[in-house]
Amino acid sequence: MHSFIGAIDNGTTSSRFLIFDENGNLVIGHQLEYRQMYPHPGWVEQDPMEILASVVACIDGALRKFGLQGHHARSLKGIGITNQRETVVVWDRNTGKPLHNAIVWSDTRTKDIVSRLAESSEKGADAVKEVCGLPITTYFSAVKLRWLLENSPEVKEAHDNGNLMFGTVDSWLIYKLTGGAEDGIHVTDVTNASRTMLMDIKTLQWSDECLDFFGLNKDILPEIKPSSTLFGAINYEDLDEIKDVPIAGCLGDQHAALVGQHCFEAGEAKNTYGTGCFMLFNTGEEYIPSNNGLLTTVGYQFEGEPASYALEGSIAVAGSAVKWLRDNMGIIREADEINALAAAVPDNGGVVFVTAFSGLFAPYWRPDVRGCILGISQHTTKHHLARATLEATCFQTRAILDAMNADSGQALKTLRVDGGLSNSDVCMQLQANILGIDVSRPLMHESTALGAATAAGVHLGIGIWEGGFKAFVARTREAKEVLQVFKPEISEKDRDEQYDLWQKAIDKSLSW
Ligand code: G3P
Repeated sequence: MHSFIGAIDNGTTSSRFLIFDENGNLVIGHQLEYRQMYPHPGWVEQDPMEILASVVACIDGALRKFGLQGHHARSLKGIGITNQRETVVVWDRNTGKPLHNAIVWSDTRTKDIVSRLAESSEKGADAVKEVCGLPITTYFSAVKLRWLLENSPEVKEAHDNGNLMFGTVDSWLIYKLTGGAEDGIHVTDVTNASRTMLMDIKTLQWSDECLDFFGLNKDILPEIKPSSTLFGAINYEDLDEIKDVPIAGCLGDQHAALVGQHCFEAGEAKNTYGTGCFMLFNTGEEYIPSNNGLLTTVGYQFEGEPASYALEGSIAVAGSAVKWLRDNMGIIREADEINALAAAVPDNGGVVFVTAFSGLFAPYWRPDVRGCILGISQHTTKHHLARATLEATCFQTRAILDAMNADSGQALKTLRVDGGLSNSDVCMQLQANILGIDVSRPLMHESTALGAATAAGVHLGIGIWEGGFKAFVARTREAKEVLQVFKPEISEKDRDEQYDLWQKAIDKSLSW
């Protein structure tokens, strides 16, 4: 019987379960969107039980299709998990029930807490950056936890009584899928932990200094493990078919994409265009603090190996701007329609769209900024707006690439891409034009899920992953990867003029 590996991928707006064969080929998958809640401007919440239900329904849906292909659920030898990062879930240790809706990574309700914490330290927003690699912003988990303690009496009481459990979505899912309140396992991996502001980026352990700074008890935290190890086994009543299948991989989604794109050498980078857009640059075993508005994060850690670090440039809004054009403006009915609209005009007609719906992330870090559309004239059509929407992510990627080149001291020559918007040829051509370097897209686009499956496959020693991490890396170096490459097609002068206009628009939005 052949062996297969499953990957649970909980993204910001949808969950998926994908099944890979032992050669890393995608066999089948199932995807479901789940509910987003925006109770106030800047607030973004999800129901943890709905996240769980969507994951279980995806596993069920994929297994049904898998069965129709003549496979048996028992040939699934392991599962990897990958997830939206930073999003905070809190639940009761005795009942296993959530004590609040999940506060999503892009939520900016913590603006005032962020200012207060930054003012409390001589180092300002960099108060604990030396320890955890991150500046204090609304993005990371610790400030969201702080908000919950200050605003939810139930959460505060559970925290003070030792009944609170905290986790990012990976922890929540593993806890529930391995038995919940009865014998659920409370764990996370180094990559997810590196996004909380609570982990010491050098020791890869929870930091007492950070916990003190944010006023949090250590007993609420999950155990930190490498990304590829045994996390637990499936023990969930609606998933009897895969009972006892080991969960053997876990990484935050951007880190999983780094692995799925085989960026294993220092100097290799990938950019994933999902709800947001995130560029990770592998810096090897070296931890590099950023002087240019980037984040220092753990890239991945395979069992028995040292951690690989990465510099990260995070963009809060990418695919969510396309969703906004569809759901809020009604300019398109399906997300894909943006491509035809944008391709119908030769340029943006002077329109620049700063998509700062959740403030601006890297390298600007301004949670207070709001979006703006500039340069509108009688000539402007929905085509220009569609093009400017795609360009907004491409220009922010350019700002991040400049910062990355400065921090790493080397100029990136090729950017590997994946994620929803990377399927758009128009967008990827715009990206190559705006960056002035090659943009290369793998034929297999599911890098994030593949990364999670890889972590599980390496631990379990299955198929192409047999022989451990080093053997797998050596094999990926030998294999000829099939890539589609977009080359820059505009002059240096045009590129500079376009980017100047973007920077002017950024200045305007920063002073709004
Ligand atoms: O840091 C947030 C990130 O992990 C979300 O990823 O793919 O849902 O945009 P995505």
